[in-house]
Amino acid sequence: MRHDLDPLFAPFRCGSLTLANRFVMSPMTRNFSPNGVPVPGVADYYARRAHMGLVITEGVGPDHPAALGDGTTGGPALPVLHGDAALASWRTVVDAVHAAGGKIAPQLWHMGPIRLAGTGPHPDAPSLSPSGLWGPFDRAMVPPDYLAAVMAPGQPMTDDDISAVIAGYARSAANAHALGFDAIALHGGHGYLLDSFLWAETNQRTDQWGGDLLRRTGLAREVVRAIRQVIPAEKPIIYRLSQWKLQDYGAALAQTPEELGLIAGALADAGVDIFDVSTRHFDAPAFAGSDMGLAGWVGKLTGKPVMTVGGIGFDKDLASSFVEPTTTFDNLEEVSRRFAAGEFDLVAIGRAALMDADWIGKARRGEPFNPFDMSAYGRLE
Ligand SMILES: Cc1cc2nc3c(=O)[nH]c(=O)nc-3n(C[C@H](O)[C@H](O)[C@H](O)COP(=O)(O)O)c2cc1C
Repeated sequence: MRHDLDPLFAPFRCGSLTLANRFVMSPMTRNFSPNGVPVPGVADYYARRAHMGLVITEGVGPDHPAALGDGTTGGPALPVLHGDAALASWRTVVDAVHAAGGKIAPQLWHMGPIRLAGTGPHPDAPSLSPSGLWGPFDRAMVPPDYLAAVMAPGQPMTDDDISAVIAGYARSAANAHALGFDAIALHGGHGYLLDSFLWAETNQRTDQWGGDLLRRTGLAREVVRAIRQVIPAEKPIIYRLSQWKLQDYGAALAQTPEELGLIAGALADAGVDIFDVSTRHFDAPAFAGSDMGLAGWVGKLTGKPVMTVGGIGFDKDLASSFVEPTTTFDNLEEVSRRFAAGEFDLVAIGRAALMDADWIGKARRGEPFNPFDMSAYGRLE
């Protein structure tokens, strides 16, 4: 047994959410939901990981016609959280995770400008973005043919579009609450819809939804507020925030800690309880002059619990692992060191948890991890 990891196996509490340990399964799109309905194997897949403190599901489309379509990680079989068939299937997932002693949150994910027009459950719905822009690209995590097809300029969202999106998030969050999900997670990063409002490159609006940093958080704040109206005050809302974008893996939403504090502080004031801070490398210094990672900064600036993620268990980050040989790598000592220093409260595991359902058990027992295997992305194990 590796007793140096014991502190990471201590419980965590936030509102009505009590977790058995500090590990979280990071949201990962799986494409096993034809017509938006998770296939029966999805319940077992998540239940096998229920010994992690919290499972955050793959991105799930909120109830809005342009939420889903072909994307970089998924196509025709992405799940939704509305309609009898999808809700019945999600109920079996929630029940299976609970029966295994775990906790689960759905990740609501509106693709916004990253959705390929003409695809998804409502191909006629135009893809939505704040200003009809896809943003500049540099080291885009998107294949060239997809890039060429997806970045055509569109129309800026109308006020009606914005109201419909907010209402769709609220309907799906209410459904999730009714099914017994333990928290609601929002995909607010990676260049998708909420992030495209935060990012100046994609949000060039001059109305109430655009302008300075604070105003650009307006849509995310309204979505959080609308969700809070339909779920109990003590059920946590988890918000994924990132500097990086699918359009540009090196992008920076906040250039300084002050800018980061403005964005995260506004979201916290609107009702975000936990920040899921998505980085390429969990231990990369976020700003010059300190070795603290981005999650540590968000926690310090908001006083809210924070989750770190990025590169735990492998020698390569997510994008590099698509194109370079990737091997397992035990960097838990650094995770423990930073956790002990109070840099973050929760530790999310992505690819490692996909390759190896018992990754955290193996970590604790000091056993070797499964090797990296891209074909696992296509299997439900
Ligand atoms: C196959 C795959 C699908 C993913 N899908 C999502 C997703 O739906 N939502 C999301 O926020 N992040 C998604 N991610 C990113 C992961 O949640 C995680 O942030 C990233 O893989 C970095 O963590 P890691 O280095 O531990 O893998 C996905 C990653 C992978 C490998």
